[in-house]
Amino acid sequence: MAKLDGAKVLVIGGASGVGLAVASAALEAGAEVVIGSSQAPRVEAAAGKLGKGATGRAVDVRNEASVAAFFEAAGPFNHLVFTAGDWGHMFGPTRDLDVEASKARMEIRYWGAARAAKHAIRQIDKDGSITLTGGMLAHRPMPGAPLTTASAHTTEGLAMGLARDLAPVRANAVCLGLILSEQVQSMGEATIKSFTANLPLPRGGTVEEAAEAYLYLMRATYVTGQIVRVDGGGSLV
Ligand SMILES: NC(=O)c1ccc[n+]([C@@H]2O[C@H](COP(=O)([O-])OP(=O)(O)OC[C@H]3O[C@@H](n4cnc5c(N)ncnc54)[C@H](OP(=O)(O)O)[C@@H]3O)[C@@H](O)[C@H]2O)c1
Repeated sequence: MAKLDGAKVLVIGGASGVGLAVASAALEAGAEVVIGSSQAPRVEAAAGKLGKGATGRAVDVRNEASVAAFFEAAGPFNHLVFTAGDWGHMFGPTRDLDVEASKARMEIRYWGAARAAKHAIRQIDKDGSITLTGGMLAHRPMPGAPLTTASAHTTEGLAMGLARDLAPVRANAVCLGLILSEQVQSMGEATIKSFTANLPLPRGGTVEEAAEAYLYLMRATYVTGQIVRVDGGGSLV
């Protein structure tokens, strides 16, 4: 299996949560890491926390010029991990959908990922990889969230399309169940339990457990166009 020793890994969304855990695991595996997210002070604090081998730069994936500048500054690199996402809601009964507000919710997770892929391809090594981030609502729809399910599918579809279009650069996605990032922990224990109690592994996953999947996809040189689920078995129930 390919090592990450000496590889350069870019993590957009790396200021917190799953992205920060991926950055930390990649560093531990010997990579040089560049993290990016929209709030400069958070990027600086996170890069400082990661320590030697890590740097950071602000990037707002809603803005193509900002994305272009991020990749230009990064220069040639090996792997891109994209975990950027906002936590606005796309929930509600279909008859009450606010279509315009829902469109805006696609700006980071979907269009942001597309912008990142467009500019990444100008600098990425031909043996490198892009890993996007989706969610289990793609496969386990629930009442009141049809757009969230549809949006989660767009991530997986984009990864599969990129795998054909950008080959030999590999493109995959990680599909997350409930992962206990700070954002998720702020939902409170009762809510978390309500989502996880019936899982084969009846708890939320840690950000470190989620990071394993990204490390695998960076190293797995014969894997492209795939979706790796990290969901405590949630897709089985
Ligand atoms: N945790 C879960 O259970 C779970 C489940 C399914 C899917 N997901 C998805 O997985 C991803 C990571 O989740 P997480 O729990 O680690 O969330 P998180 O801690 O909120 O991480 C999201 C990161 O995205 C960055 N970001 C937000 N807007 C941005 C923008 N416009 N441009 C660039 N970066 C931006 C944020 O930093 P700034 O504020 O500095 O921009 C933050 O560091 C998210 O897309 C989330 O929706 C998570």
